[in-house]
Amino acid sequence: MSESGTSTTPEYDREWWKEAVVYQIYPRSFNDSNGDGVGDIPGIVEKLDYLDELGVDVVWLNPVYESPGVDNGYDIADYRAINDRYGTMADWEELLAGLHDRDMRLIMDLVVNHTSDEHAWFQRSRSSRDSEYRDYYIWREGRSLREAGVSEAEFDASEYHLPRGVRELPPNDWESFFGGSAWTYDEETGEWYLHLFDERQPDLNWQSETLREEIYEMMGWWLQKGIDGFRMDVINLISKPEGLPDGDDSDAIVRGADQFVNGPNIHEYISEMHDRVLSNYDAMTVGEMAEVTVDEALRFSEDGMSMVFNFDHLRLDFGPEGGRWTKGEWTLDGLRSTLTEWQEGLEAEGWNSLHFNNHDEPRMVSRFGDDGEYRRESAKLLATLLLTLKGTPFMYQGEEIGMQNYPFSSLTEVRDVDTLNNVRFARESGRLETDEEVLELVQHRSRDNARTPMQWHDDEHAGFTNGTPWMPVNPNYTEVNVAAARRDERSVHRYYRHLLSLRDEYEVFVYGDYTLHTPDHEQVWAYSRVTTDAELFVVLNFDGTATTYAPPADVVGEAELLASNYGLATGGIGETLDLSPWEARVYLLDDPVTA
Ligand code: NOJ
Repeated sequence: MSESGTSTTPEYDREWWKEAVVYQIYPRSFNDSNGDGVGDIPGIVEKLDYLDELGVDVVWLNPVYESPGVDNGYDIADYRAINDRYGTMADWEELLAGLHDRDMRLIMDLVVNHTSDEHAWFQRSRSSRDSEYRDYYIWREGRSLREAGVSEAEFDASEYHLPRGVRELPPNDWESFFGGSAWTYDEETGEWYLHLFDERQPDLNWQSETLREEIYEMMGWWLQKGIDGFRMDVINLISKPEGLPDGDDSDAIVRGADQFVNGPNIHEYISEMHDRVLSNYDAMTVGEMAEVTVDEALRFSEDGMSMVFNFDHLRLDFGPEGGRWTKGEWTLDGLRSTLTEWQEGLEAEGWNSLHFNNHDEPRMVSRFGDDGEYRRESAKLLATLLLTLKGTPFMYQGEEIGMQNYPFSSLTEVRDVDTLNNVRFARESGRLETDEEVLELVQHRSRDNARTPMQWHDDEHAGFTNGTPWMPVNPNYTEVNVAAARRDERSVHRYYRHLLSLRDEYEVFVYGDYTLHTPDHEQVWAYSRVTTDAELFVVLNFDGTATTYAPPADVVGEAELLASNYGLATGGIGETLDLSPWEARVYLLDDPVTA
């Protein structure tokens, strides 16, 4: 053990989840054990030794609950049952035990902003205005054309998929994240229900105390089964304001977001959830937050949440018109200042999550790196950033072998409801006119980029399935796959394993404070991580051209080179560093500034 390593330094506010690295599994695309073309839980169990060898500590499992699968499981029909597509409850129990046997943990996806329209609660709720389940969801009468100031001539009933003879507008102007109005008219009772996502994902009404009780009970049920925490889906959308007013901000990510993001009772609900359930367990929680500021994140941590996912850095490549379905260019300056703001903002209180990939985002090496000539180097540079900033890193399946975006050539290759709905609405509104424009945006933005099957080896379908995969496999699987990466000493995979073992060895990776050295440099991002007895110096050349960089005088000197994506073996920190394209280095100083 190194002197600057894992010796006990009690002054840190220690938590197991601060020291952990999370690996996200999208079960549909991870490993298919029964040849039906869809990944499953026994398929994950087969790969537990692989995860153990990689060196991750926690698995976050995307939803595997009973579901019609409109949004690949984010439309839950039964919170306490496993979807038989993925296996049985016994399979799931084997997975949990297999992880725990290997000293790994499991966090489950908690999707409680909405359910599926096939959930028994919704079936009962929609059956009658008097149902005792009516207020589990958000039902309202529509607005008459007169009330809304819309003339008969202006009114386009087709926009709202209204039945014949019904001529009214939705209760307000909120839009769904998947495009179009956030309201659907239900013929059975002549009212509209709210859905911030697909119309088959009705929003739950958190104002109902009975509903909240049901949710807390369900959470406790899973915790009793032994899980180690939750990733909470779009959790800061659960509180809707009284009266459901129209949106006020035309720049909001979707119309109405200024009303329902971090709504009025959000902190009350999150702290209630903590008091009622989570405080009884040593659980980790990470709240996915559509829009969240550093100050809000601090409040969520006061409410008892371990950390939040913010997406500020994953918006930097939105176009000037704004919104996910636009295309712009990110800059190093933007990425560095955004992540630095979060590093500094949560330094004293709170805790960061770190992530560049997940099942909703294009692949990081295609987005922030170079998936051509420097795929390997840039994937390793991004790995270095992910694993040396302060916070809990979240890796996403395939990241460890440098998987990249899929070369979509037609919409027939797309499965994602979000992509298909948004493309449809953009075409209907005339915002996207040609097939080329659509395809370019899909290649750049579609969530399906992340959902192509995991590439295990170079046999047919990349070893993901013996059947026909539900999504096309990226054609680069013959080169980019786990088997090849494990054999190759210079692979992205080996580099991740190395960095993960360093995080176990040196606690400065976990608890060291972050100091930025290059606020303005055009292509270099250099920073230190400092504890009372150790200092890491990280230098990243975020560009495909070589450069020379002069580090600050107080880090120059003897140092151990802990990691290098160019395979450099030794070297102290000179007065100038010659950096190759996408070069990344991590040094441990012999003589830390603060020692
Ligand atoms: C966020 C999830 O990550 C995404 O996949 C899903 O479509 C929405 N929430 C709705 O649940």
